[in-house]
Amino acid sequence: MNATKLQEKNELKARISGYCSEKGLSKADLAVKAKVSEATLSAIENERWEKISDSMVKKLQSFLKSETAGNIYDTADFTAVVSLCDTARKYKLMIGLVGDTGTGKTTSLTAYSRRKNTYRLTFEKSMNPKQFFASLLSEMGIEPVGNINTMVNKAANGLNCKEEPLLVIDEAGKITHPVLLYLHDLREKTKGNCGIVLAGMPYFRDNLKKNAQRGKEGYSEFLRRINLWHTLGGLSASEARFVARSNGITEPEELRELSQKRRFGDLMNEIYLKRILNGQMEY
Ligand SMILES: Nc1ncnc2c1ncn2[C@@H]1O[C@H](COP(=O)(O)OP(=O)(O)O)[C@@H](O)[C@H]1O
Ligand SMILES: [Mg+2]
Repeated sequence: MNATKLQEKNELKARISGYCSEKGLSKADLAVKAKVSEATLSAIENERWEKISDSMVKKLQSFLKSETAGNIYDTADFTAVVSLCDTARKYKLMIGLVGDTGTGKTTSLTAYSRRKNTYRLTFEKSMNPKQFFASLLSEMGIEPVGNINTMVNKAANGLNCKEEPLLVIDEAGKITHPVLLYLHDLREKTKGNCGIVLAGMPYFRDNLKKNAQRGKEGYSEFLRRINLWHTLGGLSASEARFVARSNGITEPEELRELSQKRRFGDLMNEIYLKRILNGQMEY
């Protein structure tokens, strides 16, 4: 094995152990969550690198990447997300967080979710209830087996025996009707112990309201159980300017233009393009 590969593997070992201690995870929890075997994790811990293939290294690197938010700016929106999550956890509330695309929901929630007993999952449009709960159980380090009722109960029991757990569901606007009904059950079974944050685009809230008004099964009950809503405001001009400056933009005209961006994602994209055009990017 060459020196670079060895360094890469040692870094992986350090990052795994840092991640586990930050989140309070055992090796068994991580194995279920990252979908690898415990033997693999032991081999890494004991530096038995001959047992670890390059594709396994890649798999674990990409797992860690999905759990890492990168360089975070402490914007008003980011601070609001942290405070909402803390509130949901402490008072066992169910909170709805809405924001336009690119306002930083996923980034902020990913950063927040490095905390202990915080379980974050992203709703995918193709998920049926069983797949949704399987994904939640894996996230919690519990083998995702059994029928849907077993899974809901396992998730509820798991959440009820943790200290101040928080469940974070991203892309909540995509949650389908059947999943919503099971999520309602989960909330009922865990509301004395667990907070929930549901994050989505503004249509998440609008559609819940619309379906509730139409009298569609379960929607008005679910909507009523959301204790609090928060809408992200986007970047202020001075925040956008600060981010642009710290990314190497110095031209006053460019700074003025960038300071008008309200969505973090748009700002980063513009900065990226300008840096390419100004020849500041390394290839
Ligand atoms: N607080 C933040 N600090 C650093 N970068 C951020 C922050 N919020 C958002 N971003 C950047 O903006 C981009 C879009 O944010 P994202 O979290 O994907 O938005 P959303 O989930 O609301 O659509 C991210 O890729 C990231 O580069
Ligand atoms: Mg997102």
